[in-house]
Amino acid sequence: MSLKKITAIAVAGLMSVGVVASVAQDFVAPTTAEEAMAAREMLMKQNGALLKSAGALTGAEAETAMQSLIDNYTHIPAVFPEGSNIGDSEALPAIWENWDAFTAIAETGRAAAADGLAAAQAGDADAYGAAIKAIGATCGTCHKQYRS
Ligand code: HEC
Repeated sequence: MSLKKITAIAVAGLMSVGVVASVAQDFVAPTTAEEAMAAREMLMKQNGALLKSAGALTGAEAETAMQSLIDNYTHIPAVFPEGSNIGDSEALPAIWENWDAFTAIAETGRAAAADGLAAAQAGDADAYGAAIKAIGATCGTCHKQYRS
């Protein structure tokens, strides 16, 4: 079975058991390269907007921002199907040559956003700030290696 299929099944599995919450309920894994590029452009831009605003948020707004980042990071593997670096895509072939390392960065970001959610729920501003920093670090780590 291809990695792509396994990923799609894993994502479908997550969605069917309801692990992926509210914001992600309308997420449909892309099947073509064009769809994938459009989906990740949207996801990455949202990541940027969320990260920019998150630091100033508290309470329920902070929780929503962290949940959205958890969802986005969960979906990163699904928006990078193999061979979807066509046209003006900046996605490097190294993504699929190092798939486990690539998805591990997404998992690191997801875990940091989960820490951020817990910190927001607990009203722990220090832990919340640290989580945002950790999430932000994953953007650069990934782009440096996998984005042209
Ligand atoms: C696991 C890897 C990974 C992580 C983590 C990641 N990115 Fe990206 N990002 C990429 C790749 C690869 C591209 C290029 C996609 C393409 O052009 O097809 C990209 C593209 C982008 C773009 C350009 C989107 C467009 O097409 O206009 C923005 C903006 C962006 N990322 C922001 C972020 C921010 C902010 C974060 C962190 C909160 C982040 N990314 C986390 C891999 C990642």
